Amino acid sequence: MTNIIPPKPDPLEGVEQLRKILLSYDSSSDPHLRSPEWQAFEQSLTDRISAYGAATSERYGQKQMIPHLYRAADLGKRMLLKAGFSQPAAENFRRAFMLHDLGKTHESYRIENWTLPKQSDEVRLEKKQHIVHGIEILDEVLAALDEPSRTEFSDHPHVRMIRSLMLYHHERLDGKGTLGLPPESQGLLIQVACIADAYDGDRIHRPHQPERRSPESTIRRMMTDHPEDKYYAAFDPKVLCLLAQVVEELEDDEGLCARLFSEAEADYKTAPSRSHVIGRPII
Ligand SMILES: [Fe+2]
Ligand SMILES: [Fe+2]
Repeated sequence: MTNIIPPKPDPLEGVEQLRKILLSYDSSSDPHLRSPEWQAFEQSLTDRISAYGAATSERYGQKQMIPHLYRAADLGKRMLLKAGFSQPAAENFRRAFMLHDLGKTHESYRIENWTLPKQSDEVRLEKKQHIVHGIEILDEVLAALDEPSRTEFSDHPHVRMIRSLMLYHHERLDGKGTLGLPPESQGLLIQVACIADAYDGDRIHRPHQPERRSPESTIRRMMTDHPEDKYYAAFDPKVLCLLAQVVEELEDDEGLCARLFSEAEADYKTAPSRSHVIGRPII
């Protein structure tokens, strides 16, 4: 059941378009993104997330919000570098992905109403809506800027990346993501965002997640072959392989990829439900 309506116009103008947008600028040298006006704009969004994280830390461990954003964004950047993207393109992704959970600062994301471990449909819907609320907040802050910054920033490819990554970081290849985007609309960039976010989120210590999973068990869980599991057919194995390569280096765990993928290879080839995943080129 999907109750989330993406804003219009839909910021995802096609998978190929998203890749072109990412490659069309360099956030490290772009004059707009180096201007004091942009720095103040970006800082105001980061401050908003920090304030939310600090205010809610006791209730739900949200002091982990900023570290989660840093880690997930860094993972995504490293995965793109493994996939052959240039340093500037991977850095563009990292900076844009730093804001992906901005919508959690929306007034409707009321964690004081959450009951654990079970949550009502109403609360689950509130949580899911953070993908849309992030864009609303972004648009409000943009609208409050003076010209010419308002127009320059609103049309900037970096802002288009931020909007797309906010909206599509909870998609799944079985179409059961928050928006239910079909697999053919999810290219590498969206799968990297979804996998980096899920991996880091699943390793965070939370009230309903008291035991911290190991890196290996977290990736195994994302690669599951059991149809009854939460992540069955949710992620592209080729992109999970990029994650495993990055984690192998970050955790200094030589052999992680070999352990994970030599066992899984036969299953990936024989599981008919995954044929759409296996045969699809990464773009
Ligand atoms: Fe999120
Ligand atoms: Fe996240």
